[in-house]
Amino acid sequence: MFDLQGHRALITGAGQNVGAAMATVLARQGASVIVNDLHPERAEAVADAIRAEGHSAIASAWDVTDFDSTIDHVRAAEAELGGHVDILVNNAGVAEGRWNLPFRELTPDLWRLPIDLNIYGSLNCTKAVIDGMCDTGWGRVIQISSGSARTGQNINVSMYATGKSGVEGFIRHLAAETGQYGVTANILALGQQSNLAEMMPPEIVDRIVATIPIGRLGDAEEVGAACVYLASDQAGGLTGQTIDFNGGSQTR
Ligand SMILES: NC(=O)c1ccc[n+]([C@@H]2O[C@H](COP(=O)([O-])OP(=O)(O)OC[C@H]3O[C@@H](n4cnc5c(N)ncnc54)[C@H](O)[C@@H]3O)[C@@H](O)[C@H]2O)c1
Repeated sequence: MFDLQGHRALITGAGQNVGAAMATVLARQGASVIVNDLHPERAEAVADAIRAEGHSAIASAWDVTDFDSTIDHVRAAEAELGGHVDILVNNAGVAEGRWNLPFRELTPDLWRLPIDLNIYGSLNCTKAVIDGMCDTGWGRVIQISSGSARTGQNINVSMYATGKSGVEGFIRHLAAETGQYGVTANILALGQQSNLAEMMPPEIVDRIVATIPIGRLGDAEEVGAACVYLASDQAGGLTGQTIDFNGGSQTR
């Protein structure tokens, strides 16, 4: 069960944190993984660590918001791995730049950053792999999202949430269009992960943790395990769903 040998998985934004853990866990289950990141050194370090464990990984650095570059890099990685990508994890979602401001302080150049990454980045990568999946009758698209897509929050993430909401809508339609070809598309809407604890003052982390029924932040390897399930043959009947992976938080 949950054996991914013979599959090729592309994980975007996998140079650190959640994406790195998902790539590692997918590789441990037997998938050959393509570790994408904007920063080559991050992608290389994660791919090296996966190979050091004895699993299959290549690094491929490009900006997923660039359509032509996405197509070129995916085709090159597929040639290197000897087959088409049949598992896609659209994880890159935290744009570089100063977009986390109240909407009243944002300008169009800033509000484009998270929308471009979350919507166009996922569209570009999905476009690069969807024909190969449909033509061979098997594929898995996993979209990493956030509870902020469906809940208003006063924490300066309105444009990030706009991008996440938009891509969630796309994935539901993709699932409806491609289910007939053996391709599933699902959304993992994450709650706050443990890497946030390194970026925030402890008192804020404590306040967040107090709202989470399991009493802790999310664990990236657990998210990786959920990806393994969604990517497996055994999850072939599950599509078009949004799974809140947030420790039971009702506030998302
Ligand atoms: N960490 C959390 O608490 C949390 C909560 C909810 C949802 N999420 C979602 O989980 C995903 C991963 O979050 P994270 O905290 O691990 O992010 P992160 O910022 O730690 O890592 C993301 C990686 O994506 C890369 N990246 C950024 N722009 C890119 C681009 N244009 N092309 C390719 N790579 C790019 C970055 O270089 C970085 O290495 C995101 O989609 C995020 O929205 C995270």
